[in-house]
Amino acid sequence: MIPTQNQLLVIAIDGPAASGKSTVGEAVSRRLGFLYFDTGAMYRAVTQAALARGIAISDELAVGELAAAIRIDVTAPTVDDGRQYTVLVDDVDVTWLLRSSEVDDNVSPVSAYPAVRAALTRQQRRIAAQSRVVMVGRDIGTVVMPEAPLKIYLDASPEERARRRWEELEQRGQDSHFESILNAIRARDDYDSTRKTAPLRAAKDAIIVNTDDMNSEQVVDEVLRLAEEHLSLLMIEQTETVRAQDATEF
Ligand code: DC
Repeated sequence: MIPTQNQLLVIAIDGPAASGKSTVGEAVSRRLGFLYFDTGAMYRAVTQAALARGIAISDELAVGELAAAIRIDVTAPTVDDGRQYTVLVDDVDVTWLLRSSEVDDNVSPVSAYPAVRAALTRQQRRIAAQSRVVMVGRDIGTVVMPEAPLKIYLDASPEERARRRWEELEQRGQDSHFESILNAIRARDDYDSTRKTAPLRAAKDAIIVNTDDMNSEQVVDEVLRLAEEHLSLLMIEQTETVRAQDATEF
């Protein structure tokens, strides 16, 4: 790869629900000192804002207009309360509101609206241009950042993903039923991969990492190895460019 001077330092990680994207994305960004940017949080933020303003989720036009009108920022954590990042909607911290079951239940249709996707894609590119970033989502490699120098598609069988979710819930002391988790995962896979706008799929040049037989440390190590392989030249080049610019400014 021949790096260009202003090439974005973006690692794109896509994959289906419960494929480990957030655990891996967060660990990799921490190790590299990159911003961890979970783009799903933006779809959740629009959903939460619509619910809070009494806009019907079925009102595609109003939800699309809302997505275009609000400013959503995703930053490094601003409060030390266990969060992975902070989400601001028009400068108001909504981070913890995004995990409510009401948002869970309504975010899929919101994320399928083309006007919402267009507005959020714009905002995602704005944030990615500001820093070195690990971006996690469903369409980062295919739509949002097709020029990212490293695109990873994390995959695992529905059974393995359901097993991990089930284990996670059990550990939290929540009663859960494996078959219903598996059915929900299959339904979300179906919804995400068959929607008309930006369906879930691997970019042609994405590296597919199947994690069925890997634990999360092994996946993190593999992604770091790929980052080293694909980004190190680029990072050295950019650091040198910044140094050269600093030197000429004095
Ligand atoms: O990853 P998550 O569960 O927080 O994602 C919330 C919803 O947003 C989910 O329905 C998938 C969707 N999503 C999307 O369509 N595109 C993205 N880049 C990220 C998430």
